[in-house]
Amino acid sequence: MSQIDYIVQPGGHLSGQFRVPGDKSISHRSIMFGALADGITRVSGFLQGEDSLNTLRAFRAMGVEIDGPDAGGNVTIQGVGIDGLRTPAKALDLGNSGTSMRLMAGLLSGQSFDVELRGDASLSRRPMKRVTEPLALMGAQVETAEGGRPPLKIKGGHPIQSIDYTMPMASAQVKSCLLLAGMYAQGTTCVIEPAPTRDHTERMLNAFGYEVHTRDNRICIQGGGRLTACEIDVPADISSAAFFLVAASIAEGSDITLQHVGINPTRTGIIDILKLMGANIELQNQRTVGGEPVADIRVRSARLRGIEVPEGLVPLAIDEFPVIFVAAACAEGKTVVTGAEELRVKESDRIQVMADGLQGIGVDARPTPDGMVIQGGPIRGGRVHSRDDHRIAMAFTMAALRSESAITIEDCENVNTSFPDFIGLASRAGIQVSIAS
Ligand code: S3P
Repeated sequence: MSQIDYIVQPGGHLSGQFRVPGDKSISHRSIMFGALADGITRVSGFLQGEDSLNTLRAFRAMGVEIDGPDAGGNVTIQGVGIDGLRTPAKALDLGNSGTSMRLMAGLLSGQSFDVELRGDASLSRRPMKRVTEPLALMGAQVETAEGGRPPLKIKGGHPIQSIDYTMPMASAQVKSCLLLAGMYAQGTTCVIEPAPTRDHTERMLNAFGYEVHTRDNRICIQGGGRLTACEIDVPADISSAAFFLVAASIAEGSDITLQHVGINPTRTGIIDILKLMGANIELQNQRTVGGEPVADIRVRSARLRGIEVPEGLVPLAIDEFPVIFVAAACAEGKTVVTGAEELRVKESDRIQVMADGLQGIGVDARPTPDGMVIQGGPIRGGRVHSRDDHRIAMAFTMAALRSESAITIEDCENVNTSFPDFIGLASRAGIQVSIAS
């Protein structure tokens, strides 16, 4: 693949009504659960990004008939039942997608066949011990490469035991991995979270008729159940909407409405953080769609001020920090983020990469082991590197709205993992972004 760099001209403001692409977390799970269900599952609004498409291809490779997605994001899955997956012909390549790898590690531990999961260079650097260690406690056989990294070699045919597991970190991927392995275990598996994380797995399993019980921070599932096909309407991804929530807030004279955005309370940290900073955000037309709350979100520009981000909000905004750091750079005063060490093991080390990029365009940004201290002030512009991380690339695109000169962002191919046609939508909204030639 040839390198794609973005060049973003300084200034501009946003206006109009838009629908950003479908939620990535919900799209992954719709394929996994639809594949294992009895009957035909119909999905609309599916994210046609590389990450969720990699999950879709992996299940096709395990014998599941899946039609689509068509242009409207409609997907039809012929469920094979909880034990109906078949041995894939070769290793499953999950590209850049950590969610696919960690959730599938749990689900595939309970199968009768062997399977290997691999990924691209970024995914191959990410820690997998957080799932393989508790899976081993359940009796699963999963081999990693050196240092607990991918590829994962999963040996099938091993009986899975239930566990009671206190997670050392707040991670929806680890929680989901263990719940999915728990479907194949004898007895009841319980996972205890140190802080609330996104609960799409719990909600969607319940929608498929597989009961998951949550009491306080303890989430339990009993093995041996079955899933019944259903219809899934995937809302727009709040993590993709986040770039525009910040953009419209920082660019003077902006007024936009983002339609049909998922506002699951385990995902709305970005709204709470921006509101604490003084943003003008209004939720309109709130409704529930397929067990997930949804709203249209109106954002108008506002003068943001620096804050100390409450640590309790960190897991609820975990994917939004690249663009929150940009909001902080545009705010008056100092913003302090702590308790966010998980950012160091995302698609890139998002603390270091954002600090390097912000400093490169003239912002006073100091990385700390678990966060960042940013002093708001003028943004000069210049050249930054995304380190192949989609959310870094999109975050710096927004920074140009307040920069003095253009910002060039290197290596933006991976924007396609979560936000197909990002340039088209950003341009229609008023951001002057194009592919550098
Ligand atoms: C996700 C969970 C989060 C998030 C990722 C998607 C999920 O990861 O960062 O983009 O769909 O469960 P962690 O569980 O590692 O925090």
